[in-house]
Amino acid sequence: MVLRMSTPVALAVLTEANESGPYAVSRALMRIGVDDAPYSLFHTRMGQPRLRRKRGFAPSGASHPVVSFSDEGSLRMAAVARSEAVAGLGLDILDTRRLDRCRTDSAARRRMERRLCHPDEISDMCAHHDLHPCDVLALRFALKEAVSKALGTGLRLGLGLGAKHGLSPQDIRVVPTARGADIRVVGRAAGRIAYLGASTIETHIEHSGSLLIAVALLLR
Ligand SMILES: CC(C)(COP(=O)(O)OP(=O)(O)OC[C@H]1O[C@@H](n2cnc3c(N)ncnc32)[C@H](O)[C@@H]1OP(=O)(O)O)[C@@H](O)C(=O)NCCC(=O)NCCS
Repeated sequence: MVLRMSTPVALAVLTEANESGPYAVSRALMRIGVDDAPYSLFHTRMGQPRLRRKRGFAPSGASHPVVSFSDEGSLRMAAVARSEAVAGLGLDILDTRRLDRCRTDSAARRRMERRLCHPDEISDMCAHHDLHPCDVLALRFALKEAVSKALGTGLRLGLGLGAKHGLSPQDIRVVPTARGADIRVVGRAAGRIAYLGASTIETHIEHSGSLLIAVALLLR
């Protein structure tokens, strides 16, 4: 599947246990017309997957493709994009059934909102949307994760994987709109954007059954 964002973003699904990350990346790169042979996959010290040019391949002059992964249950997906304009890519899959408890237990929902959202986002939660607050919460969660991955840090949520380097979820503010979402970054997230030489964040949301697939592109 190729998402028609300002730069095409190819998604590849790994459904079988024997498909590896690099294999999914090759398939996704093919979908945007990029030869995978010169590239190998590595992870930064913060855990971000990156592609680098293998030794023996002359510099091409073209920008490096960017990559992101996400797992949800037994589903694993990779996303890739390549354009001079792109400084980062983030993918997040969220099974919205994980938030089902918040639908029936409003105290649990409020706890989750406080954990993930800035007070401004919470007050905005009911005022501007036709969606159930739980669906707004799920959108925000997936988008914040995707943006944090595009920024190369992940989110700091309790003792999760991003606990050491991750950004506070409140530094990435999401305003859902009819076409997706507007993102506002403050604090350390704004510092990361400046460090990466980016100026805009574009987002895209796909729904598939109970799954929410959020993609964030960091644009120069
Ligand atoms: C690690 C983190 C980036 C995402 O974690 P997650 O949503 O649980 O996991 P996902 O399956 O969506 O993503 C995992 C992938 O993120 C990527 N990733 C890890 N660190 C990253 C970073 N700093 N920047 C960009 N991508 C990163 C990796 O590719 C990883 O897969 P791989 O190690 O197999 O390559 C981070 O945001 C985090 O720890 N979040 C907290 C998660 C949590 O606490 N969840 C429970 C909430 S109820």
